[in-house]
Amino acid sequence: MKRLLVTGAAGFIGSNFVRRVLEQQTDWYVIGLDALTYAGNPANLENLADTGRFEFVRGDICDEQTVSDLFEVGLWGVINFAAESHVDRSIHGGAAFVRTNVVGVQVLLELSRLHGVDRFVQVSTDEVYGSLGAEGSFTEVSPLAPNSPYSASKAAADLLVRAYHHTHGVPAMVTRCSNNYGPYQFPEKVIPLFVTNLLEGRKVPLYGDGSNVRDWIHVQDHCDALIRVLQDGQPGEIYNIGADNELSNLELTCAILRQLKQNESMIQRVKDRPGHDWRYAIDAGKMRCELGWSPQVDFEQGLAQTVQWYVDNKPWWQAVKSGEYRNYYQRQYGTREGAGS
Ligand code: NAD
Ligand code: TYD
Repeated sequence: MKRLLVTGAAGFIGSNFVRRVLEQQTDWYVIGLDALTYAGNPANLENLADTGRFEFVRGDICDEQTVSDLFEVGLWGVINFAAESHVDRSIHGGAAFVRTNVVGVQVLLELSRLHGVDRFVQVSTDEVYGSLGAEGSFTEVSPLAPNSPYSASKAAADLLVRAYHHTHGVPAMVTRCSNNYGPYQFPEKVIPLFVTNLLEGRKVPLYGDGSNVRDWIHVQDHCDALIRVLQDGQPGEIYNIGADNELSNLELTCAILRQLKQNESMIQRVKDRPGHDWRYAIDAGKMRCELGWSPQVDFEQGLAQTVQWYVDNKPWWQAVKSGEYRNYYQRQYGTREGAGS
C-alpha cells in the first residue's frame, strides 16, 4: 500500500480528489488531514472510511507536532490542498493566507525533508501568473506576477517548493490549475454561489461589467491530472493544468441562468472586486505531451451535471449557508472541536 497524506482533504478539490483516488488507485491508502476551517466540511468525506483505505485526522498543517506524527508512520507521498482559497477574503485580511499558504507549506516541506517521501505535490493556481490581456496564455515559464494577497501567498509557497527541491532534493512538484467547478464547492465561489442563490429565488451579484475571463475545468479532470503528476511527474517540475475553456463572467452567468430556466433580470450588477484580475488562460501542453493527460469533461455537460448536483443536494448547501454544517463533526465524533474557526 502506498500511504498518501492529503492535506485540505475536507475542502472542495481535496474531497473530490480523495474520492477519485479511492475509486481508482486500489493500492493507495489515504490519510486526510484538515483543520476544518469554515471551508472544511467533513460531510464532504462521508462514507469514505468504509473503504478501509481512508482515515481522517483533524489538524492544522502549521502544527509541526501533529503533522510530524503522521510522517512517523512512513509516507509514500504528500499532496497539499490545504489553503485559504478565496480571493475576496484575502482582500479583507491577508494574515490567515500567509499563515496557512506559506508557513504551512514550509512545515510540510521541512517534515518531508526530515522523514523522506517519494513524492510531494503542491497544488497551486494559475493566479500566481497574474492577469492577461486579450491575447496569449500562461505557460510554466511565464513570470510570477500575483495581484491578490491570496495569489501572492500561493506564489510564495511555489518558491519554497522550488527551493526545497533545489537545496535539499525534496522530490517536489508544483501544479498550477485554472478555475475548478463541480460538486462540493463552497458556495462563496462564483458557480455554487450563483446556482444556490437562484435556487433560493435570489439575484446573483456580478462584479463590475462581467467582462473578466476565467478558464474553467471540471474538478474531476483536475483530480485525474494530479494523480498523473503523483505517478509520473518529474521532481522539480511545474505542471499547468487547464481545459481550454475560457468564458467571461457574463457568459458563465448566462449559462447558469439558462440551466435553471431563468433570465438576465436575476443579475444584480455590483461594485467590482479591488484589483480584479481581468483574464486567466492556461496552456496545458506540457501535461498533455509529457504526462499523456487530457481533460475529458465537456463544459456544457459538466456545468449541467454540476447545477443538477446542487439541485439534488439542497441539504448539503443549505447546511453550509446556514452554518449548521459546523456541527457535523460534533455529531459524528462527539466533541465540540468540529465547530471550525
Ligand atoms: P477550499 O477552500 O474548498 O478547501 C481548503 C481546505 O483546506 C478546507 O477543507 C480547509 O479546512 C483546509 N485548511 C485551511 N487551512 C488549513 C490549515 N491550516 N491546516 C489544514 N487544513 C486547512 O479550497 P479548494 O477550492 O478545494 O482548493 C484547494 C487547493 O487548490 C488550494 O490550495 C487552492 O489554492 C488550489 N486551487 C483551487 C482552485 C479552485 O478553482 N478552487 C483552482 C486552482 C488551485
Ligand atoms: P471566484 O469563484 O471567487 O474565483 P477567482 O476569483 O479565484 O477566479 O470568482 C470567479 C470570477 O467570478 C471572478 O472573476 C470574480 C467573479 N465573481 C463575481 O462576479 N461575483 C461573485 O459574487 C463572486 C464570488 C465572483
